[in-house]
Amino acid sequence: MNVQSVPTTPFPDQQPGTAGLRRKVAIFRQPNYLQNFLQAIFDSAGDFHGATVVAGGDGRYFNREALQILAQMAAANGVARLIIGIGGLLSTPAASMLIRQRAALGGFLLTASHNPGGPEGDFGLKFNTASGGQASEAVTADIYQTTRSLSRYLIANIGSVDLDRPGEHRYGSMRVEVIDPVTGYAAMMESLFDFDRIGELLRSDFRMRFDAMHAVTGPYAEEILVRRLGAPAGTVINASPLPDFGGGHPDPNPVDAADLVHIMDGDDAPDFAAASDGDGDRNMILGRGLVVSPGDSLAVLAANATLTPGYRDGLAGVARSMPTSRAVDAVAARLGIPCYETPTGWRFFCNLLEAGLVDLCGEESFGTSSSHAREKDGLWAVLFWLDLQAATGKDVPGLIQAHWREYGRHAFCRHDYFIPDAETGRKIFAGIEGAVGTLVGAQGAGVTVGHADVFSYHDPVDGSISDHQGVRVTLTDDSRIVFRLSGTGTAGATLRIYLERFMPPDGDCSGDAAVLTADLGQAAKDMARLSELAGLDRPTGII
Ligand code: G1P
Ligand code: ZN
Repeated sequence: MNVQSVPTTPFPDQQPGTAGLRRKVAIFRQPNYLQNFLQAIFDSAGDFHGATVVAGGDGRYFNREALQILAQMAAANGVARLIIGIGGLLSTPAASMLIRQRAALGGFLLTASHNPGGPEGDFGLKFNTASGGQASEAVTADIYQTTRSLSRYLIANIGSVDLDRPGEHRYGSMRVEVIDPVTGYAAMMESLFDFDRIGELLRSDFRMRFDAMHAVTGPYAEEILVRRLGAPAGTVINASPLPDFGGGHPDPNPVDAADLVHIMDGDDAPDFAAASDGDGDRNMILGRGLVVSPGDSLAVLAANATLTPGYRDGLAGVARSMPTSRAVDAVAARLGIPCYETPTGWRFFCNLLEAGLVDLCGEESFGTSSSHAREKDGLWAVLFWLDLQAATGKDVPGLIQAHWREYGRHAFCRHDYFIPDAETGRKIFAGIEGAVGTLVGAQGAGVTVGHADVFSYHDPVDGSISDHQGVRVTLTDDSRIVFRLSGTGTAGATLRIYLERFMPPDGDCSGDAAVLTADLGQAAKDMARLSELAGLDRPTGII
C-alpha cells in the first residue's frame, strides 16, 4: 500500500457547528476541502493507528464519492478496520449504536440531516466519538484549530471500495467490513418494545403510513414494520433512499411533510402516521387530524414509559433543550424525577445519558431519543408511539387528550425569521440580549413580562459552562417566548422565536397552536424590533 503525503493549504472556514460541518456540495467538492477536514479529524480526534472506525451516510449526493476518499485516507492514517453500512448508508442512530456495539474509536457520519440534497444541495460531515455521540466541544475546537494549520494530508492507493458487497475484504493494510446495519438496529428495537403486541396491532385493521421521505430510514422501516411486524405492504411510502431525496426537503415537520399532514386530515386517514428525516434521527408523529408537537411527544413518552419493556423500571430523569416546551417538566415533577434544561445541540444530552442521569430526552425540532443511543432516533420514537397505542388501546388523539387532561397543555409554535445578511442577524440578536434587563414589566399584545434572562448552562457532568444559549422570556400567565439564532444554516442568519402558551388541565385545551400563540409571536417580533431592523413584518417560516 502506497501512502502519499499531499501538500495542502488550510481552509479557514471549516468551523463545525452544532451538527458537524455543513456546506454546499460545491464547497465540499473543492480540491482538498473534504480531505483537509478529514485529516484534521485523523490528526486531532484520537489515535487512529490500529483503530476500528464506523462510516456511512444518509445517501445524499456525494455520499459515495466522499466515502471512497474517506476509505483511502483512513487506510493511510493507520485505521485497521472500517465498518461501512451497505451501499454507504447508515442512519445516524444506527451509526451511534454501531460505534458503541463494536467498541469503535468513533464514526464518520456523512450527512447534512434534513437539508436538501443533490448537486445544488448541502453535504455534511460529523465525527462521533467512542461513546456514539457527537464529538465534544473541546474535540470539535481541536479539529477546527487543526484545519487552520494543516499543511498535508495522507492518502493511500487502495483502489475503490465495493460499498455494495457485504462481508469483510482487505484494501491495502485495512480491513473493510460492509454490513447490513438494519439487523442490529432492529434487534435493539425488539429489546425495547413489545413486538408481539405491536405486530398484533399492525396485523389488525389498524392502518399506518410511514413516510421515509426518500431518505435513509426506508430500509429500516420496511424491515421492521413490514417484514418483522407484519404491517401491510404500502405502509412505508417514499421508501427508497435517493441522492436528492426525490427533490424534496427531507424534514419531518408540518411544512415539509405537508402531504402526510394532508392525508391525516382527509376522510380516509389511516389511524397513525409518522415520518423521519434525511439521516433518520428526527421524527414526526401524527394521528387523525393531528400533528403531535415534539414537546408533547416527549412528555407523553415520559409519562407512559413504564408501559414498555425497555423502560418498565422507570426513568432516572429526563432532559429537554431550552427552547422545547415545558410539557415534560410537568411530567417529571409528577414522577419526582429530575428534568434538565440544556442548550440546543444533542451533545449536551449525551453527557447526561452517559452519566446515567437521564433516560429520555428531546428537542422541539422533532428529535427524541433515549439511553439506547447517543443520537436522536426517528424510528425509535415511532415504535415507542406504536407500543403505547398497542398497550393502551388508545389512538394518538386519545393519548394526547388524556395527557392534556392530566397535565395541561403547553401549546407550542416556532416562528423563524430568515435574515439574508448574517451580520444584521447577529446584531438583532445582540440587541435582544442587551434588552433583557429592560424587558421585565414590559407589555405587548396584552402580555406582561415577568422574567427575562440570557440562558447559560452549567453542565452537571463535566462542569463546563455554555453562555449565550438564547434568551428566555417568561410572561406573567406562565407563557414563554424564547429567542435564539440557528446554528445549522449554510447562508444568512435565522432568528428562531419559540412560543409557548400554557393552558391548565381544567380548562379547554383544544385549538390550533399557531392561533393560540399568535399574539405571543406578535409581541416577540416587537421585542426583537424585526420590522424596524430587518424589514420583516411576519415570520419567513412557521412550524
Ligand atoms: C436545529 C435544531 C436543533 C437541532 C439541530 C441539529 O438547530 O433547532 O434542535 O439539534 O438542528 O439537528 P438550529 O438550526 O436551530 O441551530
Ligand atoms: Zn437529522
